[in-house]
Amino acid sequence: MKKRILSGMRPTGPLHLGHLFGALDNWVKLQEGYDCFFMVADWHALMSEYEDPSNLSKYILECVADWIASGIDPEKSTIFIQSHVKEHLDLYMIFSDFVPLGWLERCPTYKEQLRELSKRRLHTYGFLGYPVLQAADILLYRAYAVPVGQDQLPHLELTNDIAEKFNNIYPEARHFSKIKPLLTDMPKLLGIDARKMSKSYGNFIALGDSEKEITQKCSKMFTDPKRIKLSDKGHPDTCNLYAYYKLLKKGDVPKVFEYCTKAKLGCTECKKDLADLISDYLSDIRMKRENLLKDKDKIYSILEHGAQKARKVASETMSEVKKAIGMV
Ligand code: TRP
Ligand code: SF4
Repeated sequence: MKKRILSGMRPTGPLHLGHLFGALDNWVKLQEGYDCFFMVADWHALMSEYEDPSNLSKYILECVADWIASGIDPEKSTIFIQSHVKEHLDLYMIFSDFVPLGWLERCPTYKEQLRELSKRRLHTYGFLGYPVLQAADILLYRAYAVPVGQDQLPHLELTNDIAEKFNNIYPEARHFSKIKPLLTDMPKLLGIDARKMSKSYGNFIALGDSEKEITQKCSKMFTDPKRIKLSDKGHPDTCNLYAYYKLLKKGDVPKVFEYCTKAKLGCTECKKDLADLISDYLSDIRMKRENLLKDKDKIYSILEHGAQKARKVASETMSEVKKAIGMV
């Protein structure tokens, strides 16, 4: 029996290169060794998008298409939508009763998100409870581990705290085991403006971007700040573009280094070359996602199949939990 892992993404915008290198590539590899559950966290998306959820359904379908196009295999992994499995909210409710407010108010991601998404009205009851729902997502499937980025570590710690508190309050119930994070060793890819690649900054290259969009975005990328003129020698190690070259492992990376440091390669040309490499790298994913998005029924049937598999595990956990608490 393979160990189970669970992870999720919020469908709040198009998936981009940060998702691909920071998470998806890792998920694809994990499929071989683990029983993988991959969840589109639509309830979590609604927590920040509730004022204008008009794009939610589009982002949900695109998210699933992007996953599959990137190599998540619905035959191997369980792909589902959080809101299709009602037990998430059941367990979330039970946890809500005993999670102290202080744990949530102190959570560093909470404070950071309030700052980052300052245009949204997020001083809400729901948003404060974000990590409680995430804990329910994870514990519902009794996941052994959760592949996440560094930024999610506080949520995993909270998950373990919540599990422990549950075990203490309801010693009769089947215990929730500690879960562990599976971090990727991928270096962080920055956005075109060299800040963190993020939907809120609009500085990303999406998996579905056309060649033209990629070329435009690359032409705006920040380069070595010390290189002003073509005749200045460049410093690839402090240039965001060079980080992309290294990560893509495509093109002649040592040559870019050599020519840049000898001032034999101009940044404009370097940007055009990078755009071509990225377009080429994404061409397969782009084609697959477009084909999938033309066949929405196929996506729906994958999701229905995934929800059925997820419900089977989730309902088992929930009946154990309710029984131990004394609910019928
Ligand atoms: N909070 C996660 C993020 O923003 C998304 C998420 C929701 C998740 N539920 C999860 C990740 C459960 C891992 C496990 O990326
Ligand atoms: Fe960066 Fe390329 Fe310009 Fe060198 S030539 S500074 S690697 S964009």
